[in-house]
Amino acid sequence: MKTLHINLQEHSYDIHIDGGLLDHAGALIRQIHSGSQAIVLADETPWKLYGSRLETSLTQAGIKHSVFTIPSGESSKSMAVLEELLDFMAVSKLTRSGLLIVFGGGVAGDLGGFAAATYMRGIDFVQIPTTLLSQVDSSVGGKTAVNLPSGKNLVGAFHQPRLVITDTELLATLSDREFSGGMAEVIKYAAIFDRDFFDSLTEYQNRRELMEEMPYIVYKCCDLKRIVVEEDERDTGRRMLLNFGHTFGHALETIGQYQRYIHGEGVALGMLLAVAFGQELGLTPSDEIGHPLFTALKDLLEANGLPTSTDIPLMDLVEHMTIDKKADGSKIRLVLLEDLGEAFVDTLTKDHLAAVMETLAQRRICGGDL
Ligand SMILES: NC(=O)c1ccc[n+]([C@@H]2O[C@H](COP(=O)([O-])OP(=O)(O)OC[C@H]3O[C@@H](n4cnc5c(N)ncnc54)[C@H](O)[C@@H]3O)[C@@H](O)[C@H]2O)c1
Ligand SMILES: [Zn+2]
Repeated sequence: MKTLHINLQEHSYDIHIDGGLLDHAGALIRQIHSGSQAIVLADETPWKLYGSRLETSLTQAGIKHSVFTIPSGESSKSMAVLEELLDFMAVSKLTRSGLLIVFGGGVAGDLGGFAAATYMRGIDFVQIPTTLLSQVDSSVGGKTAVNLPSGKNLVGAFHQPRLVITDTELLATLSDREFSGGMAEVIKYAAIFDRDFFDSLTEYQNRRELMEEMPYIVYKCCDLKRIVVEEDERDTGRRMLLNFGHTFGHALETIGQYQRYIHGEGVALGMLLAVAFGQELGLTPSDEIGHPLFTALKDLLEANGLPTSTDIPLMDLVEHMTIDKKADGSKIRLVLLEDLGEAFVDTLTKDHLAAVMETLAQRRICGGDL
């Protein structure tokens, strides 16, 4: 078992990572929580697959628990489900010293984390992330949220878990698409922070080979995220680098009405666009000199089953990227690559953004039409 310590003063916590940890969850929770009462919030899909193992482990450790399952999918991250969950906690007579154990991907993690942040002004929670995305991303950083009809993640809080138990074997049952989506975030960490890690990712031939090294890969990503989160817990500075590919990606997700692209697919295309964008500005080394960055990223994304071209016109993205910006002087911040493994934030006007996007569209970058 690998353990990563996230150092955030009184909000510090450990992430334990290994294959098979689920069966030790009860004992691991016992080490940090003395109470004997818990509520388990679980996504119904992984719960059907693994719930009985978690229950056995909790019971063996003497942790009494009731289970609240939610339907799979983003629609569970709502105020309505939050209210049902909070009420379930109250009806179950969970006290301030009680514990919430969250079992699922980013949806369960964000909903459960927010419930823990607000129930009786805040209780402890333990996260057991079950998707690759949640293991490498949402389990570090303490962001929790639910959606409103008018937008994603509009209500939330920073609330760090007391412990994260990451069992990489749970990823075996993810669909290929969800697995690939998680790999987009893995590739993101490598592209912005660690060139050697990027190079090592090019050596895996398939999902089976990746799975063999998954405890290491997840640890590496959490460690890279840890460095910026410890520096910038409230996300006001360097943590912004984690948005690499996300400004373009969110625009693609929105245009596709969250049906066409899952998050990681938007991020994959977004990262490629960000590289092409930086190259066009002369801020990212072009493929003609030195390491062919665009090609290397494209090849790695393709090898991981991620999209590298879209028929969404690139100019459509501009509107979504600048929705709250005036056409004149107001600035947009984009994360670009100075080189593989080194990211920085560039600021530019909406007009400048539009001009560069038009050039990329003319060059048929990522297949985007005019
Ligand atoms: N808090 C943060 O820092 C943070 C970071 C990134 C994303 N997020 C949020 O996370 C959410 C996306 O997370 P996600 O990609 O994990 O999605 P998700 O939680 O919806 O899970 C994706 C799908 O996989 C299924 N699933 C989960 N575990 C499984 C398993 N082990 N085997 C088989 N199927 C399984 C789920 O039922 C679901 O259908 C978004 O709401 C996003 O806003 C939060
Ligand atoms: Zn992301």
